[in-house]
Amino acid sequence: MTSSKLACIILAAGKGTRMKSDLPKVLHPLAGRPMVRHVLEAVAPLKPDLVIVVVGPGMEAVAAAVAPHRTVIQERQLGTGDAVRAARPFLEGFDGDVLVVYGDTPLVTTETLDAMVAARRGHADPALVVLGMRPDDPGQYGRLVLNGAGGLERIVEFSEADETERSISLCNGGLMALDGRRLFGLVDRLSNDNSKGEFYLTDTVAIARELGYACAVVEGHAEEVLGVNSRAELAEAEAVLQRRLRRRAMDGGVTLIDPSTVWLSSDTRLGRDVTVGPSTYFGPGVTVEDGVEIKGFCHIEGAVIRSGAIVGPFARLRPGAEIGREAHVGNFVEIKNAHLGEGAKANHLTYLGDAEIGARANIGAGTITCNYDGFLKHRTVIGEEAFIGSNSALVAPVRIGDRANVAAGSVITREVAADALAIERAEQVEKPGWARNYRARKASEKASKSKAKE
Ligand code: UD1
Ligand code: MG
Repeated sequence: MTSSKLACIILAAGKGTRMKSDLPKVLHPLAGRPMVRHVLEAVAPLKPDLVIVVVGPGMEAVAAAVAPHRTVIQERQLGTGDAVRAARPFLEGFDGDVLVVYGDTPLVTTETLDAMVAARRGHADPALVVLGMRPDDPGQYGRLVLNGAGGLERIVEFSEADETERSISLCNGGLMALDGRRLFGLVDRLSNDNSKGEFYLTDTVAIARELGYACAVVEGHAEEVLGVNSRAELAEAEAVLQRRLRRRAMDGGVTLIDPSTVWLSSDTRLGRDVTVGPSTYFGPGVTVEDGVEIKGFCHIEGAVIRSGAIVGPFARLRPGAEIGREAHVGNFVEIKNAHLGEGAKANHLTYLGDAEIGARANIGAGTITCNYDGFLKHRTVIGEEAFIGSNSALVAPVRIGDRANVAAGSVITREVAADALAIERAEQVEKPGWARNYRARKASEKASKSKAKE
């Protein structure tokens, strides 16, 4: 029988013309990470001995996105069959199985890939196994032509298909598991005598049949093999992925009050008993520990929220924000590259950037850390249990000592000692009766003006 070695070729050299984009198609992000990385993640648990990503010339960005996997350049995009040929230098003499996965099919699951490899290694010893699917709208997918016994005879591309073939509901999902020993014998026989002048990988089926080899189909869910060729399909794939991620979060003990309005990244980590309110966005790199409450309308990326904290509504946490245990971040508060200590509170209308805020400190409404001087960023350090009065500007670099008070409305430019009060504003002046006199004077001025007009 076959060896149990496995290689995986990921085709990603296509120009993705239908995306109408300067960015290579497989780098368009889904749930915060490039499409091709989703494919790599689905493949990884199969522990392939070798992964080769086929890219086009000038696609260094794709090579960087798939590193440390190897890439090979397909000089000209002559079709999916030609792309597989480009991987030949890495597969010379390889006698295991070869899984061909399209870089634009990001929703495929490990289970499906596993089933395909298992079918390839089955008793019938097929030369290749194709992933079939029955989408609601078969659109322009290739169609699978079966023989009376249910075996696969050929794949006809939509562009080549006649009316009868187009009416076939079983479509080509674009993935193939092939016997590595027979693979190049098949792709070397491909011709480009078709309407697009391309070497279609799909034609390997008819060639295998001519050579007397069996070909098999594994059926997968249409949703899984959605091919992303346009922005509309990108949005469809995103919707599927978001549903999966929300489901995973809820299965893990998270309450999403209005799931369809919560946007998650693939790497979002939400602990048990986390509650997330409506219309909340989790960009890449967010970790939320157990028991955190995130009220609605928050925008969070690159942040860590420790257990028991309360965030939002309408909070913005930017990269480097770390919200301590039981800390509170309220509405219209923006936090960037700053650590809010355990139990500290910044409840209203505040910007904390490049700052360290001690445990149980209270940051009054409208406090701003002035971290940028127009050229460089500077740090603000606020001690434990410090109290920053409302509408204070803390001009960094600056330190406020433990338990110090900053009076409301102060512009603080120098260090404040522990336990001190810093007040930086004009002395309050009071003029008894002034307002009454003022009103009287103005009222009579107005009366004499309107008389003069008559
Ligand atoms: C392909 C299949 C079609 C199937 C569909 C599923 C062929 C000929 N057709 O059509 O039967 O229903 O996928 O989504 O295979 N690529 C290269 N080099 C090339 C051409 C393409 O690397 O020269 C890569 C692309 O980057 C892409 C993948 O191969 O990731 C598929 O190419 P694409 O042009 O999207 O094929 P479809 O028209 O979608
Ligand atoms: Mg495609």
